Amino acid sequence: MGASTQSTLQSYLQQLFNSPFQFIYLLMQNLLDIFLSPNAPPPNADLSRPKIAIIGAGLTGVSSASHCVGHGFDVQIFEAGSRDILGGIWAKVNNTSGLQIHSLMYRFHPSVKWNQGYPDRKQIVSEIERLWERYGLQDKTKFDTRVEKIYKDEQGRWIINDPSQGRYDGVIAAVGTCGDPKTPHVPGQEKFKGPIYHSSQLDGKTAKDKKVLIIGGGASAIEALEFVEHEQAKKSYVLARSEKWIIPRNPVIDIILSLNILGSETIFSWIPESLLRIFFYRDLADLAPPPGSGKGIFTETPMVNSGVLDTVRSGRADWLRGDILHFTETGIMFKHRSQGVPKGGPGKQEHIEGDLCIMATGYERPSLGFLPDDCFEKNYQPPSWYLQVFPPGHMDICANNCTYVNAIGTVGNYHIGIYTRFLLMFLVDPLSRPNERLMKLWIDFTRFVKQRAPTGAFEFFTYAELMYWFVFVIVINPFRWKWAPFVLMGIGAALPKRVVEEENRLRERMKNGKAT
Ligand SMILES: Cc1cc2nc3c(=O)[nH]c(=O)nc-3n(C[C@H](O)[C@H](O)[C@H](O)COP(=O)(O)OP(=O)(O)OC[C@H]3O[C@@H](n4cnc5c(N)ncnc54)[C@H](O)[C@@H]3O)c2cc1C
Ligand SMILES: NC(=O)c1ccc[n+]([C@@H]2O[C@H](COP(=O)([O-])OP(=O)(O)OC[C@H]3O[C@@H](n4cnc5c(N)ncnc54)[C@H](OP(=O)(O)O)[C@@H]3O)[C@@H](O)[C@H]2O)c1
Repeated sequence: MGASTQSTLQSYLQQLFNSPFQFIYLLMQNLLDIFLSPNAPPPNADLSRPKIAIIGAGLTGVSSASHCVGHGFDVQIFEAGSRDILGGIWAKVNNTSGLQIHSLMYRFHPSVKWNQGYPDRKQIVSEIERLWERYGLQDKTKFDTRVEKIYKDEQGRWIINDPSQGRYDGVIAAVGTCGDPKTPHVPGQEKFKGPIYHSSQLDGKTAKDKKVLIIGGGASAIEALEFVEHEQAKKSYVLARSEKWIIPRNPVIDIILSLNILGSETIFSWIPESLLRIFFYRDLADLAPPPGSGKGIFTETPMVNSGVLDTVRSGRADWLRGDILHFTETGIMFKHRSQGVPKGGPGKQEHIEGDLCIMATGYERPSLGFLPDDCFEKNYQPPSWYLQVFPPGHMDICANNCTYVNAIGTVGNYHIGIYTRFLLMFLVDPLSRPNERLMKLWIDFTRFVKQRAPTGAFEFFTYAELMYWFVFVIVINPFRWKWAPFVLMGIGAALPKRVVEEENRLRERMKNGKAT
């Protein structure tokens, strides 16, 4: 046995004894990689059509591209930002940013290998880069190229911006949901003497011994609070104008919640809500959306964090519900509302002193306006598309991971590959394609099934619901059955491809027979 094999074996054994859970996690990831990752094409391989244009080089764009080339199809990625934006939003946020959900739910490609439960920004970007390099996507990515419009040529092939960029059989829009930082103007902002930063721009900033005002009550507000805690601020105030659920940073609980296959509030929703109030919020149940407020756990993306409530309990931070009236030189005039009182409702006015302010007010949504106008037909606008991502009438456009509004589950997981393979199936196999009428029928049917959902059918979904959609649309069309292992797991493409070749040949013969 060579010295290096011996030392690898030794390190595996050490890990098995020191941290068995991590060992099992690593082993599971290695097995997934071996069995489910498509092979990377050899350098300079001649990849075949259909050729796919991919818009965006975040984790969705890079993962989609790697699935396409891994299955032998050519791609071209167009990224608006420069090379250092590879990795999308994760390349832009603070070094202290990281996953709030467990990385088990953030496996954006079968080859991803996390060596910890909650990787930070740098590790996420490095996994995206590793994937990009592994599948030879360096020569297939055009940076500094914003896609402004796409349209079809006479042969029905997609042109991206202008014909000089090539012609494509399919398009994957992977523009994400977090674009530029959203920085609303708050009255009197100019008067405030301290600095005001957006929550994504905290690298190199200090908050030591400062009183910090955090505007916003979403996941970014929690991240900003973690940052100022780490910086040992004197006191922080989270100024939240609406109530959102916070759920524990526990993969078992998070996975169980995402298993609600109905994808909406049910008559049983009071059970997880009450359990959260009693065992998680405990003395701070006042911060949770109140019963009967219409803000059930399955109506809006919850925030995932376990430490925030302890920080509030410790007195180092106050979480205040209410409306910001205006800035003053030394703080913010705030109307503090009680639980259940809606935005703008009555409350107690108070002045909250602060030395610096963090705007955790979210991100602008990137535009899908480059898609043809007929993708935005009344009643069939995103996210109300076929499987949430295919605009009716355009089975060759997949807006992968960028149409959703709210969900319990995850953004970076296996569904990226599944959606990509749906597109590949539609492009390769004419008999598997849904036409516009059937796409609309599925949308209307899903609306009917979810007619009681307070959010409407598509504004909120759960991960289990996605999986049910995928299986359902495969089962209802017998021509898709042969593709099921490929679409759902990325394996077994050889058989359906051969069948489609035979069908094509048969069609060709029939056409020629008719002509003669
Ligand atoms: C701080 C932070 C933490 C997060 N944590 C989690 C988490 O724990 N769990 C979770 O599930 N999600 C989380 N998210 C959500 C996150 O957005 C997704 O998880 C995921 O990174 C989205 O990847 P994406 O590739 O779809 O989009 P992005 O990473 O946003 O990439 C989109 C890319 O498309 C490019 N682009 C946009 N428009 C165009 C155009 N017209 N032409 C060309 N290129 C274009 C952009 O420049 C960008 O590079 C977090 C988000 C933030 C901001
Ligand atoms: N590590 C993580 O998990 C993590 C970290 C950051 C972000 N993210 C993800 O990134 C996405 C964006 O999250 P986010 O927290 O940045 O944005 P967000 O969810 O949109 O939250 C923004 C918050 O700012 C408030 N707000 C906006 N404008 C305001 C104004 N003018 N005055 C007062 N309050 C205002 C909003 O209130 P209203 O709700 O009332 O509008 C909301 O509470 C989400 O998908 C989130 O899951 C994840």
